[in-house]
Amino acid sequence: MTAAEAPQRSSVENSRRSLRTEALEARPVNLDGFVEEWPEVGMVALDSEFDPRPSVRVQDGVIVEMDGVARADFDFIDQFIADKAIDIQTTEASMAIPAVQIARMLVDPNVSRAEVISVTRGLTAAKLLEVAKTMNIVEIMMGMQKMRARRTPANQAHCTSARDNPLQVVCDAAEAAIRGFAEVETTLGVVRYAPLVAMALQIGGQVNPGGPMTQCALEEATELELGMRGITGYAETISVYGTEPVFVDGDDTPWSKAFLAAAYASRGIKMRFTSGTGSEVQMGNAQGKSMLYLEIRCIMVTKGAGVQGLQNGSISCIGVPGAVPAGIRAVAAENMIASALDLECASGNDQSFSHSPMRRTARLMPQMMPGTDFVCSGYSATPNYDNMFAGSNVDSDDFDDFNTIQRDLQIDGGLRHVRESEILAVRTRAAKALQAVFAYLDLPAITDAEIDAAVYANGSQDLIPRDVLEDLKGAQQVMDRGITGLDLVKALDATGFSDMAANLLSVLRQRVSGDMLQTSAIMTPDFTPLSAINDDNDYLGPGTGYRPSGQRWEEMKRLRHVTSAANPEEEVQ
Ligand code: 5AD
Ligand code: CA
Repeated sequence: MTAAEAPQRSSVENSRRSLRTEALEARPVNLDGFVEEWPEVGMVALDSEFDPRPSVRVQDGVIVEMDGVARADFDFIDQFIADKAIDIQTTEASMAIPAVQIARMLVDPNVSRAEVISVTRGLTAAKLLEVAKTMNIVEIMMGMQKMRARRTPANQAHCTSARDNPLQVVCDAAEAAIRGFAEVETTLGVVRYAPLVAMALQIGGQVNPGGPMTQCALEEATELELGMRGITGYAETISVYGTEPVFVDGDDTPWSKAFLAAAYASRGIKMRFTSGTGSEVQMGNAQGKSMLYLEIRCIMVTKGAGVQGLQNGSISCIGVPGAVPAGIRAVAAENMIASALDLECASGNDQSFSHSPMRRTARLMPQMMPGTDFVCSGYSATPNYDNMFAGSNVDSDDFDDFNTIQRDLQIDGGLRHVRESEILAVRTRAAKALQAVFAYLDLPAITDAEIDAAVYANGSQDLIPRDVLEDLKGAQQVMDRGITGLDLVKALDATGFSDMAANLLSVLRQRVSGDMLQTSAIMTPDFTPLSAINDDNDYLGPGTGYRPSGQRWEEMKRLRHVTSAANPEEEVQ
């Protein structure tokens, strides 16, 4: 370009835009936020010159140096990882293997999951980062396919209500169960509503076919109490972080989280930790490290605490990795590393991060294609406006799209299409059961008109508003009177819902056997726990491992509109 041309070009840019540019500017993706890498504050996905170099030194059975830091200079996360998460016997041998060779083991179908774990158990955080950095997105997906703990993939739903309406939650939980979700979780706008909403979730999940585990995400003391009472079945939002100051901000340490984990386990309550790339940047204390390096530290803290699993994949911080180059690749890598350390992984695809339908779908594929223990750790079973976790990457509007993608690619995301008549039947039964239980326990009445609106509703805007003050008094009563899961069983049994009472009792009974504490445990509709113990991932390349087949594949072929081959004038029902 000559000097004479330059001003002309810039004036064209300033005054007149092409219609093509205008069309592109109007695309939803341009409402998303993107930022340049800024490694000094941790705004970098996985490739930062400030990340430590891998190293380990063992003396007298103790790690005395890790990733370039001497034991005397360890922070509390280093200490926890060095003492609890790394296999001292094997670490020096594992660390001597080049990162690229370990990455190839992850991808190579001739190397078994168990062989990979025999190496990963001895690696430091910086070494695991080196391994991930050599892998492209397809290789990460291949690693995930082999390393996820449970052979059969599953999915988790959010069932929340913008009005905290228990009737909406009971209906949506019943619908989520029949659509295939293995776990359903809720949270609140008004926290004091929690006991009623958690009860609704637990009851809705047990309409035939019963089974899904339920969770109510709250501050830790209330969440633990609801779990101990058997009003919820599992817990998940026990957060861990990758830098010491962020941990301290939450008045916690790895040891306090491990103690909390033991409290749940002592009552047979399934639990997993939560972490994810971007939290340390968002909380202003990334100590100049990459997001993936810090997340690997969280994965190792989880391992060290003896917890069976982790909800990761950035989760509520997805906007942060989503904004930087290779951020979504790093998110896929954090899921794969959790699995490679033999943890259950509930793999994100949780909080919404993009206005672009294409980008939302692309973000889902690295987990949905290989399959994970829970493809979404929070698929919103409600419309976006009802999602009290701040919106999800996929929501109830996307059910038909999701089922179609499963069918197109023959990949199992845990869901199925269900006919409207069946959905209305379970929603009706759920609502009537809640009405009966509320009446039996002398809680605020639910009217038939409310039930009619809730059964046919899409979201809370379609409901008859409840008397919130009365409901909150009722919620307090549940706590004050010490109502437990067993009281819900009795109430269901006494009011003509004995099948649901039996289902709920089966869920509670699992507490005693402890089977839900096994890695990746889910409850099947016939109340057999399915976990890495009795359904371990045996993938070893083409022709092996989990593939949708038989009855499950027949179910996946069904969609809302499929033309019948026998009679092209008709649709298959
Ligand atoms: N790191 C740690 N905890 C997280 N949570 C969500 N995202 C993260 C993350 N990246 C937890 C928080 C939040 C709940 C929904 O999950 O506890 O309140
Ligand atoms: Ca979740």
